[in-house]
Parts: sequence; structure tokens; C-alpha cells
Amino acid sequence: MTTLFLNIKELIQIRQPSVMKVSGKEMSILPTIKNAFLLIKDDLILDYGSMSDLTSNEADEIIDVKDSMILPSWCDSHTHLVFAGNREQEFVDRINGLSYEEIANRGGGILNSAKKLQETSEEELYEQSKVRLEELIALGTGAIEIKSGYGLTVDAEIKMLRVIKRLRENYSVPIKATFLGAHAVPGEFKSDKEAYLDLIIDEMLPLIAKEELADFIDCFCEQGYFSTEDLNKILLAGKNYGLVPKVHVNQFNAIGGIAKSAQHGALSVDHLEVLTDADLAILKENPDMISVALPSCSFFLSIPYTPARKIIDSGLALALASDFNPGSSPSGNMNFVVAAASIKMKMTPEEAINAATINGAYAMDLSNSVGSITKGKKANFIITKNILSYGAIPYNFGNHQIASIYLNGEKVV
Ligand code: NIG
Ligand code: FE
Repeated sequence: MTTLFLNIKELIQIRQPSVMKVSGKEMSILPTIKNAFLLIKDDLILDYGSMSDLTSNEADEIIDVKDSMILPSWCDSHTHLVFAGNREQEFVDRINGLSYEEIANRGGGILNSAKKLQETSEEELYEQSKVRLEELIALGTGAIEIKSGYGLTVDAEIKMLRVIKRLRENYSVPIKATFLGAHAVPGEFKSDKEAYLDLIIDEMLPLIAKEELADFIDCFCEQGYFSTEDLNKILLAGKNYGLVPKVHVNQFNAIGGIAKSAQHGALSVDHLEVLTDADLAILKENPDMISVALPSCSFFLSIPYTPARKIIDSGLALALASDFNPGSSPSGNMNFVVAAASIKMKMTPEEAINAATINGAYAMDLSNSVGSITKGKKANFIITKNILSYGAIPYNFGNHQIASIYLNGEKVV
């Protein structure tokens, strides 16, 4: 089955297959073709080019998109999309003056979500999560990473990861799973964190490996959560089972998580709202380890934004992700992420779109199949409404600018 899209106002993010990510100054370039065609065959991109170079109009289906632009689907490399209920009360508590830390210290925060999730059946958790996934697909997300970490018991962590697996089986969007057992220390282990680490390492990990429930291993390396010594243990254990590190670091404090993640060959370090010069030096020494910024989290918690300019101007790559979760980013809208990155982090539209597509794909090891308009990659893309330029995506923040969505060559929205 072939489909030919004609008269595309601008075909955005054209890349050769060898491009895995873009860094530094390259991020300011977004290759496009104006007045373009795009040919897809089954689930893959077969060809593209300028309308003037189109030699044959033969296809099973021909779609004239006229004033629309086409860009690859958003690649959201950091989410906690599987969760139970919400934390609206904490949101109101914060409006009334409590801090995120104060709420967590009272047993709210991650532990509150864990309690709710433990009390929710796998079926119900799946039902709640699939609604969120469908909403994100309609907002243009065409590849996504989802973490565990709201279970914090053997059963509940496995339950979360099974829900992620079921989403992967039932939806055509590529999904990567991350085991984040070390998200918070459960109340019953408060005075014996080592015992909780043992539970993660000796009980959770072997089961997860046996059922092949995760691709990546994560840990919330932060004051009051897990230290760099804890991180070291978790990453070593995860790597023993073939899980690649992708780590929460430097959200509130710089405690050495970037250096430790680098030592373990992490694929990404995520958050980085607080970034020291020493951290930046380590990022420069490890250019394969990508930085992931989460501007929706900064927006929602009113905390500093990741210093994107510092990272990009140092010649490094940066990816953008939503951090969709009930506590610090109850929105998984990547259109907003791109806008917030431009408005609050001074990323140009080109940089923000690169960060949310090809670099997002890299941050979940999917650059070979998604993240750009490339022959042989999946036909996962967004057709925009009639917008003047791709700069309108961040400029008209909050507006609905998507006309339709294709996943695996099929129109889903
Ligand atoms: O990425 N920082 C740790 N984890 C989540 C938030 C967790 C929560 O508040 O539920 C994050 O922001
Ligand atoms: Fe997160």
C-alpha cells in the first residue's frame, strides 16, 4: 500500500539515515524542503523531494495536503505516564504556599502516588493509562518512554511494567520501558534504605529481567532520595541484566549524579535544572550521553529551567521531553514543551524542534527508526493546520495546530 502526499508547504526535519542526533550549532539548523512531496509504503517512508522533482503520480492513495506542513512525530523520551489517580490536592497545597519538598516530607509526593497505585488493579491502571496515551498521540507524540517508580513494592512495580508492556502490545507507537524502582524510599524502609536497595536488586530486577519488562534503568539521584553510592549500586545491578542507564539527576541539587551516570555509560541524564561548571565539563567529556530538559516540570513547580543555552553553546546535544507525571508535570503535551523551551529557555524554534524529534529519539535509542523524515524510517508524522511557518509551533503556544497524525503509515487522528 503506497500513499503520496502532495503540495506540502514545507517538509520538516529531513535527515540522512546516519544522523543519530544533532549537537551544538547543528541544532540551529532544521533541514526542510518547501513545496514537497512525501511517499510512504506500508509503515515506512519510501521517498520525498521537491514537487518539481516528482516524476510519477502513481500511488494507491494520493492526498493533497495543500497549505499544511509535515514534520516527524514528537519523540518524548521521559515520561511517567502510567500512574493512578492524580495529585490535585497537592497542587492546591502548593498554590497555598507549601513547597514540593514540604509536601513530600509529609508523606505526599511520590509516596502518595505509590499508595494510590498499590491500591489500583492492573486492569484499572491500564484503563487510566491508555486514555493518557491516546491523548498524547492526538497531540503528536509518535514515540515514547514510560517509567515505573510509582509502585515501590515488588508487586506494584511489576504491575506498572506489565501495564507498559500491554500498552506497547496494543498501540502502534514505539514504547520504551524504564525501571525506576529507586524513585523514593517507601515509608516502611525509612530507617533502612539499604534493605530497600536490596529489594530492588535481589527481587525486583531478576523478575523484571525474566519477563523482559524493561529496556532502561533509572534512579532519582537527589538529596533525600538516593545518593551517588545508591545510584552506583542500582546502575551496576541494572547493567548486569542488560538495562541501559537513563537517570534523574540535578533536579534540585547537584550531588554528583552526572559524573556517576557518565561512569556507567548512561544514555541520558535528565532534568539538570541545577548544573555546575564541573557537571558541564563532564557532559563535554561524554558527548554520547545526551542531556534531557523537562521544561513543563520547571513551569509547573516554578523551579529553574535547565540552562539550555549553556549546554547547546558548549557544543552539546540537548533533548526535550515532557516528564508527564501527576506530581511535577501533569501534562504530556510536547507542543507546549517546544513552546516553553523557546520562551523560557531561549531555544530557537529550530533548536526546540530538533530537541523534541531527532534528539528525543536518540535519548531512547530509537534514532534508527523515528525522529526525522528519512527513507526507511517509520511513517510517523504530524500534518499541521495551515500555519505560516514552523516557528508558529512555539510562537502560537497553547493553540491547536495539528490537522492529522500518521503512525506506521496509517492515519490515526
Ligand atoms: O521527574 N523527580 C522525580 N520524579 C518525577 C516527579 C515525581 C512526582 O512528584 O511524582 C519527576 O519530576
Ligand atoms: Fe521524571
